[in-house]
Amino acid sequence: MEKKNLDWGNLGFAYMKTDKRFVANYKGGAWDDGALISDDMILMSEDAGVLQYSQSVFEGLKAYETVDGHIVTFRPDLNAQRMYDSALRLEIPPYPVDKFIDAVVKTVEANEAWVPPYGTGATLYIRPYTFGISPVIGVKPADEYQFRIFTTPVGPYFKGGAKPIVVKISDYDRAAPKGTGNIKAGLNYAMSLHAIVTAHEEGYAENIYLDAATRTKVEETGGANILFIDQDDQLIVPQSESILPSITRRSLVYVAEHYLGMKVVERPVYWEEVKAGNFKECGLCGTAAVISPIGRINDHGTDIDFASGMEEMGPGMTKLRETLTGIQMGSIEAPEGWIVRVK
Ligand code: PLP
Ligand code: COI
Repeated sequence: MEKKNLDWGNLGFAYMKTDKRFVANYKGGAWDDGALISDDMILMSEDAGVLQYSQSVFEGLKAYETVDGHIVTFRPDLNAQRMYDSALRLEIPPYPVDKFIDAVVKTVEANEAWVPPYGTGATLYIRPYTFGISPVIGVKPADEYQFRIFTTPVGPYFKGGAKPIVVKISDYDRAAPKGTGNIKAGLNYAMSLHAIVTAHEEGYAENIYLDAATRTKVEETGGANILFIDQDDQLIVPQSESILPSITRRSLVYVAEHYLGMKVVERPVYWEEVKAGNFKECGLCGTAAVISPIGRINDHGTDIDFASGMEEMGPGMTKLRETLTGIQMGSIEAPEGWIVRVK
């Protein structure tokens, strides 16, 4: 299989149309078998549920070329289950977990030429999604849905890759306590767009959201969970009902405990603790972000600097990142069931 002729080492995090996408339709109360198609355009009613009431959920995972030339995906069962849970919350008929995994494998296989070569730092981002496609005018779920998967080759989510970033504490809320912060729905991202554009205009890479009810606890950023390392080298993981259950974060917790012998504490983290300098490293984690170090957080004009500095990733985050990417790219043995081989 000949790879596409791309400048793999210089890809950003952007959409590029690849050869094939998977499409399945829900009609008359059942999902059809679905198929791979070439057409990237979608024709739908002007009154489709997704257009009027944002009835859509999505996922994000990646395919990797491993050190020995295989193509693999990382824990797609967890993405399948999370999309199932997201769909139930928005009254979308969930796409079955086993069919989801199968469709991911088929879509990556069909776009094999777009999987970035090992060692380039790039990966193939996989975007599954489900949305209401039939007309709705009263506020209710659509009758018909489409499940799709496309792929696009990507480089680092943040410019500069693993360089520390500067983020700000947002005055906007991302998620209400019993809202939709714990599912992956497009609506959570639509409402963050003004905050992210404003943050970028002010020179920040991202926003940190505090809990909406008390504004005292650290939740997450617009597109990633947050991790801290304390003065005793423990991994401190903010816990909240209104953050997305990141697959990267759950994997890193396992990696920290079982591969690196670190103590992990999952608990609510108060912003006051961060301001007091209780943590020496901070990072964002997610499929797109992998682990990106945070060097500085701005809180309404006051900078909180982490001891790891603005030059490079701190030693704790570096170990976590290297172990996780080693597992994903096949140079470190993975826990049972984490790697699904496409080829
Ligand atoms: N939090 C938010 C809001 C996200 O959009 C993402 C990205 O998927 C994550 C966290 C990280 O989740 P995961 O590690 O499963 O990609
Ligand atoms: C991911 O990490 O997969 C995400 O979905 C984050 C962002 C691109 C929305």
